[in-house]
Amino acid sequence: MSGERADTLAPPGSGRDAGRALLEVRDLRVRFSRGGRRVHAVNGLSYRLNAGEILAIIGESGSGKSVSARTLMGLLPPSAQVSGSARFEGTELLGMPEREMRGWRGAEIAMVFQDPARSLNPTMRIGAQITEAIRAHSDMSRKQAAARAVELLKLVHLPAAERRFYEYPHQLSGGMRQRVVIAIALAGEPRLLIADEATTALDVTTQAQIMELLLELQQRLGMAIILISHDLGLAASYAKNVVVMYAGRAVEYASAEELFAHVRMPYTQALLGAIPLLEREPHALLPVIPGQPPDPAALPAGCPFRPRCAAATDACLEPPPFEEHEPGHWWACWHPAKDPAEDPARDPGEPGGAHARPVKDGVQG
Ligand SMILES: Nc1ncnc2c1ncn2[C@@H]1O[C@H](COP(=O)(O)OP(=O)(O)OP(=O)(O)O)[C@@H](O)[C@H]1O
Ligand SMILES: [Mg+2]
Repeated sequence: MSGERADTLAPPGSGRDAGRALLEVRDLRVRFSRGGRRVHAVNGLSYRLNAGEILAIIGESGSGKSVSARTLMGLLPPSAQVSGSARFEGTELLGMPEREMRGWRGAEIAMVFQDPARSLNPTMRIGAQITEAIRAHSDMSRKQAAARAVELLKLVHLPAAERRFYEYPHQLSGGMRQRVVIAIALAGEPRLLIADEATTALDVTTQAQIMELLLELQQRLGMAIILISHDLGLAASYAKNVVVMYAGRAVEYASAEELFAHVRMPYTQALLGAIPLLEREPHALLPVIPGQPPDPAALPAGCPFRPRCAAATDACLEPPPFEEHEPGHWWACWHPAKDPAEDPARDPGEPGGAHARPVKDGVQG
């Protein structure tokens, strides 16, 4: 594959045994103008998501995770310049007129954000908010939609759904509010749910409950999910495939299993290695890597991770292409880590070792 540009190739995830593509993102680029400077928020992101699958997008703050997701929903400010392609079952989402996009948002792709409090209207009963969302996507009567709203509240396991229907957001706990937000996202029966740090604001136990709910919905409704997170451990537990983003681009892509057994990119290694994964709290936040991610208004030449990378050499002044180096495993690095299988001296408990992936029962992948 060497010599060809990554953006001309099929995006990661399109291997021979890949299922039906629901979403295919190719060479997505997003720029903003801020104070006369150009902010390169997304710099050539490609991935593919099959129907009914969970894909995790992982990276530090500012790596472009939310901007790339909002681009798919047509939710960027007018100052954004977007190029590339994002096809949902073959239909191009980028550049779609707002009128048409409104028919897709919620109905085909829905998004759940980090902060449930901000997603709900504090002055409206929750039942009315869900009913309104259902009616926006169907021609149900108010009564039918209200009955469906109670069904949705039950689907997301809100305790005492019939009673809660008449309550206001402030009467619910944070976890309950997030369940309501998810119920609203399900109102249009979307085929893709984007959960952008949807559990970050919650305590660890509630976080696990919401993740279990998303997994259950994915399995029961056959819905695909993009899980955006800082938390590689969380991704490993729930996602089939993982995209690791750095400075607006994908730097590693593989199945969660493959990634944790054979991590290649030093950045991903650093994410895993700053605190040994097995000793971490389950779902602890991203470990801290020395140095700062680059300013997207002044990206360094070559590999953007070079200034923080222990393996960097002069070769890294040339940007490494993002390519499929092993079947299903993509990375962008001139100095990838050795496969532990080729390095028998390596402790398997070490980051990148064979046991590094947290084990989770009953999870696909
Ligand atoms: N409207 C905007 N105008 C200018 N720059 C923006 C705008 N929105 C986002 N950015 C910049 O784009 C970059 C990527 O932001 P994004 O929100 O996608 O990061 P993220 O990976 O989601 O981070 P976090 O984990 O903190 O949510 C950041 O540097 C951010 O400051
Ligand atoms: Mg974000």
